[in-house]
Amino acid sequence: MQSFETIEYTVTAGIATLTFNRPDQLNAMNRRMMDEIIAALQAIIQDKHIDVAVITGKGRAFMAGADIKEYAAQTNDQFVRFQRQGRQLYSLIETAEIPFIAAVNGYALGGGFEIALACDFIVAAVSASMGLPEIHLGLIPGGGGAQRLLQKVGVNRTKEMLLLGGSYPAAQLHHWGIVYDTPAGEDLPATVLALAQKLQRRPRISTKAIKAMLTPAAIGLPFETRLDQEGEAVIELFNHPVAQDLIKKFTEKNSK
Ligand code: COA
Repeated sequence: MQSFETIEYTVTAGIATLTFNRPDQLNAMNRRMMDEIIAALQAIIQDKHIDVAVITGKGRAFMAGADIKEYAAQTNDQFVRFQRQGRQLYSLIETAEIPFIAAVNGYALGGGFEIALACDFIVAAVSASMGLPEIHLGLIPGGGGAQRLLQKVGVNRTKEMLLLGGSYPAAQLHHWGIVYDTPAGEDLPATVLALAQKLQRRPRISTKAIKAMLTPAAIGLPFETRLDQEGEAVIELFNHPVAQDLIKKFTEKNSK
């Protein structure tokens, strides 16, 4: 397994955990961290023994966004590369075959919130807060945060979050449907593990098909195209030995 400086990466019983590890800087993402997160995501995707991935942060933040101090010293070319890598990072999560859970332990701001938005589930400690504060720097999210938020919560709430640049408590984002669950901080690891294990028990072939059908890009396709793809996917699944076996087992159990 590769060794990293700004993140930790472990795999236990088919569950990968990627932990942001610059706690004294609230896990702000510098260029090294961007490179390392992408490398870890590529390792996760290539490892067919991994069923679920969890992303979390060390200390009191999930990630307080891009490293603003590093931004101050970046050339235009470095900034452009960093933004392109961000786009790759979010896309790796969304196009992966396996589910990703963001275990939001504290601040998830800017790029940190964008990473959480790219995940399939956000489980956030009730004390965590999230938002897209880039407007306070004269910027915008830029990595797709606006587009992802728009798909999840509609234009009014997206405008509110971007134009005001506020931080929102986990409970409010749970109410909006962005956050799946809001356990107490000390219960976050156990809640996330239980969800990961539940996802692990689902047939991988169906998980893969569901994820592919619901990427932001797939959601944007014309309705008839989406219906065609969904219809083709279920036929392919029906003919797969895994589905045939599960259907047979259900029938045997229910005909006794
Ligand atoms: N980039 C670089 N450094 C950051 C950072 C970021 N995005 N967010 C926090 N840090 C650093 C602080 O500079 C500080 O470092 P120092 O101890 O070397 O001075 C350390 O992390 C702790 O942050 P601090 O601001 O002292 O903590 P706080 O509890 O008072 O405030 C926040 C927490 C999250 C409200 C505040 O740090 C913040 O607003 N961060 C920026 C968030 C942001 O705009 N993100 C989008 C970036 S595009």
